[in-house]
Amino acid sequence: MEITPSILTADFTRLGETLEEAVAAGIDWIHMDVMDGNWVANRTVTFGPALIRSVRDRLGSEVTIDCHLMITNAVETWNQYVGAGVDMVIAHFEAVDNFPALIEALHGAGAQAGCVLNPNTSAEQILPLLPDLDLVLVMSVVPGKGGQQFMPEVEDKVRAFRAAIDAQIAAGGRATKLMIDGGIKHHNAAMVSEWGIDIAVVGSGLINDRGTIAENLSAINAALG
Ligand code: DX5
Ligand code: ZN
Repeated sequence: MEITPSILTADFTRLGETLEEAVAAGIDWIHMDVMDGNWVANRTVTFGPALIRSVRDRLGSEVTIDCHLMITNAVETWNQYVGAGVDMVIAHFEAVDNFPALIEALHGAGAQAGCVLNPNTSAEQILPLLPDLDLVLVMSVVPGKGGQQFMPEVEDKVRAFRAAIDAQIAAGGRATKLMIDGGIKHHNAAMVSEWGIDIAVVGSGLINDRGTIAENLSAINAALG
């Protein structure tokens, strides 16, 4: 299972150094949480395309950058994130009326398309989109901030996506990636990996004052065995 850092718990005045530290520790994917103060329940505002552009320029083209859009107007603004250098736009199923049209637009612009669903959104609604999705993200917390408690009740949903993706691949279809986000730490990483997760977002479990990113990452990798 791959690990990608969420930067919400980082000191933004040292973000460049922190991300270079992550890359030096073996990280090759950065998860950028965009909140517009409208869509998430606690009205959090994080950052936008300008910061993402700086991160892309600092890290170069080798690192994969996604943006997790927790915003009301992903359909009107996705091109600003692609223009800022993201490889993948991950939009919330609950915030987009015509998801197939968004996928088509992203692919048309040469970007990858991801769909993320809240803990209380069922897998059934997203399964028809799977053949065209590069990634599905299962939230294991209610979006809005880092450091929240992991919700184990998403297990069945993760397993349902795993089975559907494996059947899709076996039939010669797209190798859609399966990601999880929220409350992932060294003590539950192996469990979600066993559920079938390909890549886990880790925020407060990786960027904290208990250890360096390399130390925290090696604790997670040790747990993964
Ligand atoms: C929450 C974000 C997550 C969060 C993860 O809305 O989408 O990416 O920052 O942080 P931890 O791992 O601390 O739950
Ligand atoms: Zn996220």
